[in-house]
Amino acid sequence: MGLSNLGFSFWVIFFCSFSLSRDVVDASHQVFSHLQSVQASSVTHRYRTGYHFQPPKNWINDPNGPMYYNGIYHLFYQYNPKGAVWGNIVWAHSVSTDLINWTPLDPAIYPSKPFDINGCWSGSATILPGNIPAILYTGIDPSNRQVQNVAYPKNISDPMLREWIKPDYNPLMAPINGINSSSFRDPTTAWHGPDGHWRVIIGSKKRRRGMAILYRSKDFVHWMKAKHPLHSSKNTGMWECPDLYPVSISGRNGLDPSTNGKGIKHVLKVSLDDKKFEYYTIGQYTFQTDRYVPDDTSADNSTGLRYDYGKFYASKTFYDSGKNRRVLWGWMNESDSTISDINKGWAGIQCIPRQVWLDFNGRQLVQWPIKEVESLRQYKVQLQNRVLANGDLFEVKKITAAEADIMVDYQLGSLDKADTFDPTWTDPQVLCSQKGANVQGSIGPFGLLVMASSGLEEYSAVFFRIFKGQHKPVVLMCSDQSRSTLQPDVDKTTYGGFVDVDIEDGKLSLRSLIDHSVIESFGAMGRTCITARVYPTIAIGNEAHLYAFNLGTETVKITNLKAWSMRKAKIY
Ligand code: FRU
Repeated sequence: MGLSNLGFSFWVIFFCSFSLSRDVVDASHQVFSHLQSVQASSVTHRYRTGYHFQPPKNWINDPNGPMYYNGIYHLFYQYNPKGAVWGNIVWAHSVSTDLINWTPLDPAIYPSKPFDINGCWSGSATILPGNIPAILYTGIDPSNRQVQNVAYPKNISDPMLREWIKPDYNPLMAPINGINSSSFRDPTTAWHGPDGHWRVIIGSKKRRRGMAILYRSKDFVHWMKAKHPLHSSKNTGMWECPDLYPVSISGRNGLDPSTNGKGIKHVLKVSLDDKKFEYYTIGQYTFQTDRYVPDDTSADNSTGLRYDYGKFYASKTFYDSGKNRRVLWGWMNESDSTISDINKGWAGIQCIPRQVWLDFNGRQLVQWPIKEVESLRQYKVQLQNRVLANGDLFEVKKITAAEADIMVDYQLGSLDKADTFDPTWTDPQVLCSQKGANVQGSIGPFGLLVMASSGLEEYSAVFFRIFKGQHKPVVLMCSDQSRSTLQPDVDKTTYGGFVDVDIEDGKLSLRSLIDHSVIESFGAMGRTCITARVYPTIAIGNEAHLYAFNLGTETVKITNLKAWSMRKAKIY
């Protein structure tokens, strides 16, 4: 019998509702100290994913220190070896040759020294000259201060880099000179400037101003805080897991973190502790002044651009020198309750790694699942030129709808027929909640019903609506989970994002990666992405179905639809 037995559930409910023991929150995670070492006696498979990264059991959060080193990809991540809620955090470690199939190793970094005895939190990897990998991470010291440490592989000739050594000269950076010791964490990958000095930024805040504190070093041992942060923004609260990297203004190739100069822009992404979502800006980083200035096309606050408008947090990119691309990882938390997580014996998954590059318009990023995921594609169905009139719905049959990859190309009719966009509709998530999948419009809603039961008691709707804007059509993309499950204690928030794409020619596309309890959707070839976690009670396994629909009064044509059953990845 698993943890779901009556006696255990009673105690969980008792603790959660009566002792209300949500301890002090130092990181952004809820701390249930009485539950964090409750080991699952069994693991529920119902909502486990087939090809998304997750360990066999227990809690995971942020991806840490991803890197490509001597032909092997390394993924570290925040992991609780003792239970399915946040706590006891170590750096778990897995390796892969294709970013899809993974082999687990022993935890690489765990509390063992005074400078990390109370926790080993998030950080990043840097490949130093001489091909030496270094990890910078946040340790929690005996006074619960957040400090920054370095770790090196014990044996550089071990291809798996199993063991990591933490020099005794740690910590490298301590919260002194006015830095708040509980808001000083998550070092980025370091980069070096033409002056030969290393730089790194650390997430922080001063009152409500979120900031990226800058440090410099000549030798990667002695680090000096710069007089000013690399960047900050008022009223954004604590910046967790900042990420700064160069992107090319032409083409999709990734760049080494130290590249700068002509033809290059920079991206600064921050994870907002207060909001539990991330935003990024595209901007200019000047080495000489060590300042980052967002372009005026990027809003520099929580209304800004997001990698993902759904469940996606604490993300991190790395430069994949093997394939010359920049790859993004993000943590997808659960949307069910803590009690459900304990009963399941696990919580949290990582996204399918995404290649990221700058859109040709220079205003935003484009993301696309790495090519390697296509190696899991099996049985394929395809159909062409299917017209969907108002109220039409058809099933995409013959694939495993709970483990699938689907791509749809649409051709819209005259955009003149679109409903008029009200300029006061500034929040796409609110708009998607008000105009859910069941609200008829002119052009849209049209899209997919995913993880749907045959009687449509349960489904998640991923869809578009097109509006007539002042200067050009406005494209809205939504992921509506309001009917995703009959279970009551699940967060069913509807997510939404505008899609910055030119659709004058009436062409638009949608791709969804469906994997039991996760739906990762990519609108307009990765210009807007939305991830949802879902927990159906009927639409499970073979009872899950996939439909295409149109509830707009205007006809929409599917010019091409391709869908594949996906094989399970080998993630031991
Ligand atoms: C983000 C975060 C980081 C911290 C880590 C702790 O999810 O709160 O700021 O380093 O998780 O696990």
